[in-house]
Amino acid sequence: TAEVALMGPTPSLPPVILTQDELKKIAAYKAVEFVQSGMVLGLGTGSTAKHAVDRIGQLLIQGKLNNIIGIPTSKKTHEQAVSLGIPLSDLDSHPVVDLAIDGADEVDPYMNLVKGRGGSLLREKMIESACKKFVVIVDESKLVQHLGGSGLAMPVEIVPFCWKFSAQRLELLFKESGCVAKLRTYSENGEPFVTDNGNYIIDLYLKKDIGDLKAASDAILRLPGVVEHGMFLGMATTVIVAGELGVRVKSK
Ligand code: 5RP
Repeated sequence: TAEVALMGPTPSLPPVILTQDELKKIAAYKAVEFVQSGMVLGLGTGSTAKHAVDRIGQLLIQGKLNNIIGIPTSKKTHEQAVSLGIPLSDLDSHPVVDLAIDGADEVDPYMNLVKGRGGSLLREKMIESACKKFVVIVDESKLVQHLGGSGLAMPVEIVPFCWKFSAQRLELLFKESGCVAKLRTYSENGEPFVTDNGNYIIDLYLKKDIGDLKAASDAILRLPGVVEHGMFLGMATTVIVAGELGVRVKSK
């Protein structure tokens, strides 16, 4: 991988403290520099990807980009893109995507990701696996040494049928890592969170490193009832990290 620092601190000026959202926006705008007219684009989901989609809409209105086709990774992004006048399609009509831009919940040193804390992991994985280039945009709080090691959720999308059974089997699978499996619910009413595909999400909380990621991925996907998980292994081609010291672009 090659890493490039694009912006450094200016020693003579007092440091400007940027908010997390400003850092997300910086990463998103940097990623949109990869977009060219005529591209089929995977449009990501979440608060970071939202900035990228806004920027693409802005450049279309300004006539600086033309003939873009967007493939949204969620109903929410679909709505946002429609409101911005971005022409849309889907994988059935455009099975090859030139470039996708999306956020992530965790990024390890090998550019493996955890995604799906926003709940859109299945459509994101379908679209991002069909991409020639997948640019991930994060602020530096998302960088981790080991996926799942931050104590935050590792999401798994499952069918609603007998979800407790699936949760138990997932928990057993990672017993050695002290796994606790929880059904994701809406905070307002405690009802199960339902994905855009009508499924549920089980969040896995791990006390210890999950170990071999590929083996963990295969084991999860072998369980009947599991639709997809939020580990995106070897999929990102570029990661853009915005931090207080500047923007870093890391490419395969
Ligand atoms: C949604 C995702 C998001 O990309 C991920 O949760 C990051 O979100 P944010 O940019 O809001 O931090 O995977 O399913």
